[in-house]
Amino acid sequence: MNSPKIFAGSSNLPLTKLVSEKSKIPLGKIELGVFKDTEIDVWVEDDVNNSSVFVLQSNSVPVNDNIIELALIADALKRSGSHKITAVIPYLGYSRKEKQTRRGEPISAKVIADLIIASGINKVVCLDLHADAIVGFFNVPVIYLSALEILADALKHENFKKPLVVAPDVGGVKRARNFAAILNAPLAVIEKHRQVDVRDRMEVLSITGEVSGDTAIIIDDVISTGGTIVESANALAKKGAKKIIVCATHGVFAGDAIKNLEASPVDKIFVTDSIKNDAKSKKIETVSVSGLIADCLKDEL
Ligand code: R5P
Repeated sequence: MNSPKIFAGSSNLPLTKLVSEKSKIPLGKIELGVFKDTEIDVWVEDDVNNSSVFVLQSNSVPVNDNIIELALIADALKRSGSHKITAVIPYLGYSRKEKQTRRGEPISAKVIADLIIASGINKVVCLDLHADAIVGFFNVPVIYLSALEILADALKHENFKKPLVVAPDVGGVKRARNFAAILNAPLAVIEKHRQVDVRDRMEVLSITGEVSGDTAIIIDDVISTGGTIVESANALAKKGAKKIIVCATHGVFAGDAIKNLEASPVDKIFVTDSIKNDAKSKKIETVSVSGLIADCLKDEL
């Protein structure tokens, strides 16, 4: 029986290395490449016969390539004799499309879950999904982690008075309520409207809750274009919030997100390293989920 290893997909090597160091599970040897026609090439160099292995891959940009790469790594490990393959997916791509909002749409999160599992994965570890129900899309056991405590911990160094936790949309109320409970703060909820026929565009319709406090702390699962955060911050500033802090598990920062967040009334943004973050902004601080994931993997050995 070979010893457990953790294999890194190409999406987030820094996080995989940290998880490996903290869990003492060695990194597996794997060669990843791309053919001229853009197909992905995978070669597992280690002998993994009869072993329990982990693969860490965030479905971040390039989303589709990273999903396919994960599936190919899992298949290679299975064909090399691994008896248990656990996929650690700190950020699950397509998770924001977990239901149909109009006829004719796919349920993309379900398709991705099926695709990943079909490659031979026996267990999944994931983190702060867009909706908790997505856990049930995987027909294998799922360990569902949350970075809320880590994000709340990061706020301890911030100097603020009378914090108010804000859910930037109705779908995020449960997450925001949990965060408010950790911080022992009141809750406000923004009602946001997204046009179904215009991608990545939203507007704030109303805010439920008293925004007279000093600091508003917006909590979200993901920042993609930054539109949700910028519009929410504008609305909160108009209502009198003096300081605006954002906490989000996944920092995608697509398109002009950084530029728009820089120009917004947001003072500080905390994200985790669930996605490798090269985004340059003095407003952004990254906290690590490596310890959380490492502890979880140690329990799995
Ligand atoms: C949506 O419901 C999510 O929770 C996020 O608020 C949203 O996906 C963020 O996207 P963007 O940054 O493009 O507004």
